[in-house]
Amino acid sequence: VRHLLVCDHTVYFKHYFVLRGEAVILKCPSFSHEAFSDLSLNLTWHKNDSKHVISGEDKEQRIQAKGDTLWFLPASLEDTGVYICTQRNSSYCAKVSIRLTVVEKTAAHDISYMQKLFTFTSGKLVCPDLGGFMDKKADLELKWYKDSVPLDEDNKKYIRLKETTSLIIGSVLPEDSGYYTCKTSFTYEGTQYPVTRTILLQTVETEKRNTPVIVYPDQKTTLAVPGYKMIIPCKVFIGLSRHFYTIVVWLANDTYIDMMYKDDRVTVGERQEIVENGENFIEVPLIFDPVREVDFYTDFKCLAQNSDGYQVLPTRVKEEGIDFDCT
Ligand SMILES: *[C@@H]1O[C@H](CO)[C@@H](O)[C@H](O)[C@H]1NC(C)=O
Ligand SMILES: *[C@@H]1O[C@H](CO)[C@@H](O)[C@H](O)[C@H]1NC(C)=O
Ligand SMILES: *[C@@H]1O[C@H](CO)[C@@H](O)[C@H](O)[C@H]1NC(C)=O
Ligand SMILES: *[C@@H]1O[C@H](CO)[C@@H](O)[C@H](O)[C@H]1NC(C)=O
Repeated sequence: VRHLLVCDHTVYFKHYFVLRGEAVILKCPSFSHEAFSDLSLNLTWHKNDSKHVISGEDKEQRIQAKGDTLWFLPASLEDTGVYICTQRNSSYCAKVSIRLTVVEKTAAHDISYMQKLFTFTSGKLVCPDLGGFMDKKADLELKWYKDSVPLDEDNKKYIRLKETTSLIIGSVLPEDSGYYTCKTSFTYEGTQYPVTRTILLQTVETEKRNTPVIVYPDQKTTLAVPGYKMIIPCKVFIGLSRHFYTIVVWLANDTYIDMMYKDDRVTVGERQEIVENGENFIEVPLIFDPVREVDFYTDFKCLAQNSDGYQVLPTRVKEEGIDFDCT
């Protein structure tokens, strides 16, 4: 007898925005779900609107599954959509959906990543989301641009660390804010594909360096589907302050989550203290199990506070499919 397992389905709030014609690697997220690190599970990929499993055998194929990653060589506009990775064995099944939006090159600024650096001290810009390419030991030579002008290799203001994705600015000035572009290329089976990331740098006064800054969610709305499980992480940059000085909480209609949802349909997940590129972050997920229509009318807020100040970020859960805006 073959048992049909009902899958535990999570819509993970990771939205990849990429440029048409570039190489893209999506990674099946491994959030605190222990099973997602279980390598004995069979992992498959498919696009939401298709039952067809994306295979990894044909090296000529434009879209290929490779373990827990999905490669687009290169991405095209019609690849926009929801991709689902399913992990299963004979007794277990879990699915995670992640979202991909492919835009034209002219919209590069609309999909930029926000980074913040403090003024009058040195700071590091990081070319983001290159993880999948770095894992492949690709020889990634990065070229950096500020407002489309190449940053001269000899310019003493900038320090490039070989074999890393960072650009160090010796002393950050307020006028350094603006758009930076990092470019590289990825070669697969003899073909070279461009990989471009755009960063919007904001400079922050040094006096505020220990104030928490919410870096994620970076959009005012999160798309959701009623009936599905969903996770929205709140990621807070805490500069040089120690993790234990900063509290991070989620509120619904200005009420603590555990007081609002006595049935535990909406809960706050485990707090994670992260050090990334030498900087301190705290991440606290808000978990909907499942999303219900009432969530579209509720005000959710992530609040981060320490003795130097606080920041609040309101976010709205919106029903997917209506009024979709990628800016
Ligand atoms: C299937 O995977 C689950 C989750 O990792 C694990 O607990 C279970 O033992 C596995 N079952 C089999 C038959 O391998
Ligand atoms: C994994 O799943 C696919 C699709 O169901 C199947 O074709 C393949 O044989 C499975 N692989 C293993 C190792 O179980
Ligand atoms: C998947 O696609 C179907 C049909 O297009 C849609 O109704 C559903 O909401 C989508 N699910 C997700 C998680 O996007
Ligand atoms: C939050 O407030 C809105 C507007 O008053 C209301 O419609 C919604 O049901 C409230 N949410 C919860 C979870 O009580």
